Amino acid sequence: MPRQITIKPGGHSFDCADDDTVLTAALNADLMLPYGCRNGACGSCKGKILAGAVDYGAHQAATLTLDEKAQGLALFCCAKPLTDLVIEVKELRRAGDFAIKRLPCRIESIARPAPDVAIVRLKLPANERLQFLAGQYVEFLMKDGRRRSFSLANAPHDDALLELHIRNVPGGYFSNQVFNEFKGREILRLEGPFGSFHLRETSDKPIIFVAGGTGFAPIKAMIEHALHHAHNRPMVLYWGARAKRDIYLPDLPGQWQQASRDVTFIPVLSTPEPGDDWPGRTGLVHAAVLEDFDDLSGYQVYACGGPAMVDAARTAFVATRGLPPDEFFADSFTYAPPA
Ligand SMILES: Cc1cc2nc3c(=O)[nH]c(=O)nc-3n(C[C@H](O)[C@H](O)[C@H](O)COP(=O)(O)OP(=O)(O)OC[C@H]3O[C@@H](n4cnc5c(N)ncnc54)[C@H](O)[C@@H]3O)c2cc1C
Ligand code: FES
Repeated sequence: MPRQITIKPGGHSFDCADDDTVLTAALNADLMLPYGCRNGACGSCKGKILAGAVDYGAHQAATLTLDEKAQGLALFCCAKPLTDLVIEVKELRRAGDFAIKRLPCRIESIARPAPDVAIVRLKLPANERLQFLAGQYVEFLMKDGRRRSFSLANAPHDDALLELHIRNVPGGYFSNQVFNEFKGREILRLEGPFGSFHLRETSDKPIIFVAGGTGFAPIKAMIEHALHHAHNRPMVLYWGARAKRDIYLPDLPGQWQQASRDVTFIPVLSTPEPGDDWPGRTGLVHAAVLEDFDDLSGYQVYACGGPAMVDAARTAFVATRGLPPDEFFADSFTYAPPA
């Protein structure tokens, strides 16, 4: 039996079919709620149940604790209503303008700019286009039902090929194929675009981008989008990596800086190698931001990379630098759930 869900404070109501999650039903109704991984790992979709009951669904225990459940919180990407619901969550822009598509694609090229990073370019069928917002991601659909998420690294205007930056996860089901089996021209299936991590273009606040490793991918898309549309917002990019070789597109931020005085690039290495002869910043990437900025109250921050970096950045920027919580946007690169 379909359940009715009402969002506060937005006031929109929509039906949720049997077996749909709250998030799926909201997206089907063209309503955009915040979300990231869609599998109970990142916490982006967390909101409050004001009335009614849910089946919480499969999620990571640390992402939604028993205490939080007792406080009425739920992860809307996995929660399914057991009754009609009233929920409290921030509604974002309407999602309906870009349809989520399921498409075949062909691997056009695989480059290896660093030992454990592959840049994969994908071609869609000639009559197909994927419309997306800079920063969103796609999921590969495997034959056995597994899905793997990767952010689009190209800006929407530059969409002849889709570009992904894929880290080699030791023992990783998909990345192992990318690094050891694929030669190019393989046909894959993808679905997207997904996610609420995208450039907020109605704001004119200066931006701080914080990237960890391949978390650079969606941030590259956002910066190229902003430059293409001459947004004229000051943008400081902090890119954190272990060693010099892990800054896998070292010349690109310099090209952005030459193209626009709005861009500043600060690479930060956590463990430079002796041969790196590194004159630049070292340490944790979010700590470099804290060193440089006493007051973030007038900024927007976009952070992307491992969950530990994203969580540390959010906590510190909001608690100690006055960043408004709703001006922090992030995608956590969580692992896919076990098969
Ligand atoms: C929205 C989103 C966007 C993403 N975008 C990108 C991107 O652009 N580029 C990118 O490189 N990655 C990205 N990721 C991360 C990527 O989707 C995952 O790392 C994915 O699991 C990789 O798939 P795989 O098949 O290679 O590895 P998997 O088969 O998923 O990994 C399996 C390996 O990881 C280990 N593992 C599983 N869980 C954990 C854990 N919690 N801690 C430590 N080890 C664990 C397993 O033991 C196993 O060895 C994104 C994730 C999300 C949610
Ligand atoms: S936990 Fe729900 S979107 Fe990540």
